[in-house]
Amino acid sequence: MEKREELYRGKAKTVYTTDDAERLILQFRNDTSAFDGEKIDQLERKGMVNNKFNHFIMQKLEQAGVPTQVDALLSDTESLVKKLEMIPVECVVRNVAAGSLVRRLGVEEGIELNPPTFEFFLKNDKLHDPMINESHIVTFGWATEAHIAEMKRLTFKVNEVLKALFADAGMLLVDYKLEFGLAGEQLVLGDEFTPDGCRLWDAETKTKLDKDRFRQGLGGVVEAYEEVAKRIGVEL
Ligand code: TMP
Repeated sequence: MEKREELYRGKAKTVYTTDDAERLILQFRNDTSAFDGEKIDQLERKGMVNNKFNHFIMQKLEQAGVPTQVDALLSDTESLVKKLEMIPVECVVRNVAAGSLVRRLGVEEGIELNPPTFEFFLKNDKLHDPMINESHIVTFGWATEAHIAEMKRLTFKVNEVLKALFADAGMLLVDYKLEFGLAGEQLVLGDEFTPDGCRLWDAETKTKLDKDRFRQGLGGVVEAYEEVAKRIGVEL
């Protein structure tokens, strides 16, 4: 597989074209960003940890029947993926109150959300990823009703699989964000699932083991990601 030119540079990953028109290379960088790019740093080893973490999780999801973009691990920091037409919408499921839900609704951090909540956000840093609803998505043509229903179904399916996977390793999956894309007419899970895009707490001590350590300046960010990886059996 030959790497060609840079197609897109995001805040933490770079996407490259390849000699196969249907395949792209995702490169996970050490760059770490929070608050829509307001806080930025380079964290040693993060690209490698997230690349391998993402590959491991996507394989588990694929085995559980969630179609994913991931094809193969190419190197410490690169993965081969199927090319998707990305839908500019973020799907968030929350099992426990934290983050923007706490600020928005004034509920207490840490309360269990039963049933879990589902929210859509528009992927737009300049607008700070505003929360949107299904009507906005259809009106502005970001996705069809059928694709909305499928994104919700798959995002909840991911919750079933990953809540159990992290619980078995002594962790609470507090919340997470997914992004989907289209390969022809098929809706496929794209982007990444890493501690950069979810919240994970130790089940006993409630210690934060995700990007909130970076957002809140708690230190030990990559060490926490490595701890999560070790507990669930990702080989780094
Ligand atoms: P929030 O509490 O800030 O709305 O975030 C909910 C979850 O989604 C949390 O696990 C972080 C993740 N997330 C991202 O990864 N990127 C984003 O741009 C947003 C808005 C949320």
